[in-house]
Amino acid sequence: MSQPPVLAVRNLVVEIPTRGGIVRPVDGVSYTIAAGEILGVVGESGAGKSMTGNAVIGLLDRPARIAGGEIHLNGARIDGLTLAQLRRLRGKEIGMVFQDPLTSLNPLLPIGDQLTETILAHLPVGQAEARRRAVAALDEVGIPAAAERIGSYPHEFSGGMRQRVVIALALCAEPSLVIADEPTTALDVSVQAQIIALLKRLCRDRGTAVMLVTHDMGVIAETADRVAVMYAGRLAELGPVREVLTAPRHPYTAGLMGSTPLASKGQRRLHQIPGAMPRLHAIPPGCAFHPRCDRAAERCRADPGPTLKSCDGRAACWFPIAQDEAVA
Ligand SMILES: Nc1ncnc2c1ncn2[C@@H]1O[C@H](COP(=O)(O)OP(=O)(O)OP(=O)(O)O)[C@@H](O)[C@H]1O
Ligand SMILES: [Mg+2]
Repeated sequence: MSQPPVLAVRNLVVEIPTRGGIVRPVDGVSYTIAAGEILGVVGESGAGKSMTGNAVIGLLDRPARIAGGEIHLNGARIDGLTLAQLRRLRGKEIGMVFQDPLTSLNPLLPIGDQLTETILAHLPVGQAEARRRAVAALDEVGIPAAAERIGSYPHEFSGGMRQRVVIALALCAEPSLVIADEPTTALDVSVQAQIIALLKRLCRDRGTAVMLVTHDMGVIAETADRVAVMYAGRLAELGPVREVLTAPRHPYTAGLMGSTPLASKGQRRLHQIPGAMPRLHAIPPGCAFHPRCDRAAERCRADPGPTLKSCDGRAACWFPIAQDEAVA
């Protein structure tokens, strides 16, 4: 029997009751991530990227809630776990790296203590061994003189160094999955690439599955194995990164690519997409993208909207861009 994927999300629906009615920031999202694989998640602000990640780790802010679908980690179902069970899972089975390193670090505790506590909580080792591993973890993420810095507090580090500490913390209990939500957005451009490269190398070495949310197509191109493109809470396109970036099939992906520097680097030029993503209260019937799509036809306005499953498996589009299609 083959190994189940590390993460399998099936038909995930997240709902938020609001005064204007129930909205669905995540609406029928399905994907898997295998051991050692990096899945990039892209899409405009508000597309539901963070909600999807937060649903997986059980960190949805109320009143948002999982209203449908299933989440499996290493073959075991994890949606519907109790708060205590989820807390055990986070840190042990799932590591997290967020945009702001300070959300993951306790400002009042030396970084060595935070690492040691996490290791002691999740691994069958004693105090001395936990301490040794904490130093090794800091060393591995490139903190100079790790043994001496172990008593330092988070504010004594630069932003880039702090994010390295967060990565050490996320990986120290040897999780099988890491969820990284815009891990470099708050950092200096000069250190962003180093942090991404570090995350990629460590997760590859360990065979950790990674969900990497980012706005940066360059990062996706360099880092991800597959990419999921989200639009208005749904998957617009999902496929191998090279194929999706060089030959997007969904008009939305093509539009996104057109607004990144990649398009000018000898890749075909694609025009910008006019308009904005719909608000969750006003998702149009049919394909949510149709009002902005220059390929939209009658079928695209009809209900129900296209899904990866109902289309070609790669793009949720009734009229996907064909491989041999010339794009002006
Ligand atoms: N309490 C709430 N009530 C109503 N809508 C909400 C609430 N919280 C979040 N949303 C909506 O949920 C949607 C998904 O948000 P999410 O944070 O997942 O987007 P995102 O893709 O991560 O965007 P960004 O790139 O800006 O981080 C957004 O449209 C947001 O406005
Ligand atoms: Mg987000």
